[in-house]
Amino acid sequence: MPALQQTQEALGYLPDDAIEALARHFRTSPSYVYGVITFYPQFRLKPAGRNLIKVCRGTACHVKGGPRIRQEVERQLGIKEGETTEDMEFTLETVACIRACAIAPTMLINKETYGQLTAKKVAEILAEYRAWRMASEPA
Ligand code: FES
Repeated sequence: MPALQQTQEALGYLPDDAIEALARHFRTSPSYVYGVITFYPQFRLKPAGRNLIKVCRGTACHVKGGPRIRQEVERQLGIKEGETTEDMEFTLETVACIRACAIAPTMLINKETYGQLTAKKVAEILAEYRAWRMASEPA
């Protein structure tokens, strides 16, 4: 597990050549390593977008409208949970609890926590990220 976590942290995901290298290192088969990876939702087999969105699906967030927040992110970005936008800007995942239940419903974008979310706030936050990206692109 730590080797998989460190590899993903370094590369952003777990590509085939890394899986094969880990299998050789631990004297096992790539299919065994692949089986471990696919068992744990924290591991990614495809590269993530520049901004990783994690919408909380924990109990506190669920009762305060978390599913609507995930649906709004999906609607805004045109992707479903586990997918990445075509421009590689956003990846959407869900997470059990980000320990910010007092401000439910919540989501993380990279390391930034957003709480007391509404569909309108989600739209505004994502618009800010898009604006930052456009402002940082070379003319
Ligand atoms: S349940 Fe969402 S932050 Fe705890």
